[in-house]
Amino acid sequence: MFADTHDRAAGIPRLVKPIATATMTAVLFACTSLAAYGAAPADWSKIPVTTIKLFYPGQSSYEWLHSKDHKRADKKVAQGDSCFSCHEGEEQEIGELIVSGKRLEPMPVKGKQPTIDLALQFAYDKDNAYLRAQWKTRNPYPGEAHPFKRYDGKQWKHYGYPKLDKVVQEGKQPGIYEDRFSMLIDDGDVPNFDVHGCWISCHDGQRDMQDKASKADVKGHALLGDNGLKKKDVRKYVPSTRTDTNWASTKSRAEIDKIKAQGGFLDLMQWRGHRSNPVGMADDFNVLEYRLNDAGKGPFSKNWNKKAKQPKYMYDAAKYGSNATREDQIRKKPTALIREANAVPFDPNANWKEGDMVPAYYTSRADAKGSAADNNMSTGTWKDGMWTVVWARPLNLTNPDDKALKAGGVYTIGFAVHDDNITTRGHHVYWPTTVGFGAKADIEATKVP
Ligand code: HEC
Repeated sequence: MFADTHDRAAGIPRLVKPIATATMTAVLFACTSLAAYGAAPADWSKIPVTTIKLFYPGQSSYEWLHSKDHKRADKKVAQGDSCFSCHEGEEQEIGELIVSGKRLEPMPVKGKQPTIDLALQFAYDKDNAYLRAQWKTRNPYPGEAHPFKRYDGKQWKHYGYPKLDKVVQEGKQPGIYEDRFSMLIDDGDVPNFDVHGCWISCHDGQRDMQDKASKADVKGHALLGDNGLKKKDVRKYVPSTRTDTNWASTKSRAEIDKIKAQGGFLDLMQWRGHRSNPVGMADDFNVLEYRLNDAGKGPFSKNWNKKAKQPKYMYDAAKYGSNATREDQIRKKPTALIREANAVPFDPNANWKEGDMVPAYYTSRADAKGSAADNNMSTGTWKDGMWTVVWARPLNLTNPDDKALKAGGVYTIGFAVHDDNITTRGHHVYWPTTVGFGAKADIEATKVP
């Protein structure tokens, strides 16, 4: 029950502060408007804690689960038996087997933990649902850095990659990627999400999965490619959008739109250590035929001017201390480039030196709008090796790309944590878990005044 050992004295952290460590005080991140981000329940120590053991899933895709390699379980899974009915309590065992590389993980990551304990607390009042999530990081620093553009003396080149990438495993690039806490949410309209959870969205052909689809194949695909969604890779999707068990077998646009209108999509939201937390936000996506942005604009954008082959923004030296950061600085000082707080338009003549780096993405609370900006009360602090994320989400949202949380409702949630500079399958996950707001569920949210 590690949650109880934290923040008790401080009471509930009002959502007032972006990430902070002892070394970060020198920097500017004092966005004055943060105090208005909203408040959470009066005292988290009074809200019950449920701790779940997230485990490393490797490439255990939907297709693998339905294959003969999933020993004698393939038929049971097809019949709709729950994962939990066979695997309850096996999280440690499964995690250890997969991180070892003996099963379902062709590129084991050095030092990867088999499991991560995630402590969860839920509450709600008449306006919002509240969540506090806490977990220990592998590293003695918060995962707030994300890949950069680095000046090599002539050109700006991408620098830093997630640890499942070959260039990192071969030692050619450093592992740099933000920490994340994610939730996939259903209200009962997506077939089998209640029994198979996130795994229904995880498929062969996706990034970092078996038989990854080629860029050319995706670009040439009628619905996903150049003449459709303009994608270059395959990401999460729900099986009802396909006619067969492969990513390319999409149903027609009209059929998919009908599934969406009937609620057959998942809500997906991610709190991000670099690209949302510094402005007190989490993103808001939805999963249907692809992992789609909600309407509007989320909190982050690419910091790259394609034509000029240079960044769009650099740090404002008056606020950050310099126009760039450097390799030896990045775990010591926050790196987020915040458009309205510490960024200025990129100046190609700013006396750049080899090794200067600016973030490959910038963040902006001011730019975020519409349904994609619903999660604007979400702040994490990292202290003594642990992230504490406090999140408020409005109840009764009416956007067509959200699963509205309501008093009296029960939702199935898949939780995930990306820890130690990694993305895609390199997360830790858990079996589908129900959360009730004034209703019976695995985790019952506490009503607060
Ligand atoms: C009918 C029982 C049953 C169901 C239902 C079931 N599994 Fe399994 N699963 C097994 C068995 C048996 C193995 C193989 C264990 C072994 O080889 O020792 C296995 C293996 C696995 C493995 C590989 C790790 C290992 O221990 O070999 C993963 C990951 C896994 N299952 C995930 C899932 C998920 C996710 C679901 C739900 C979508 C699920 N299973 C549903 C019985 C089941």
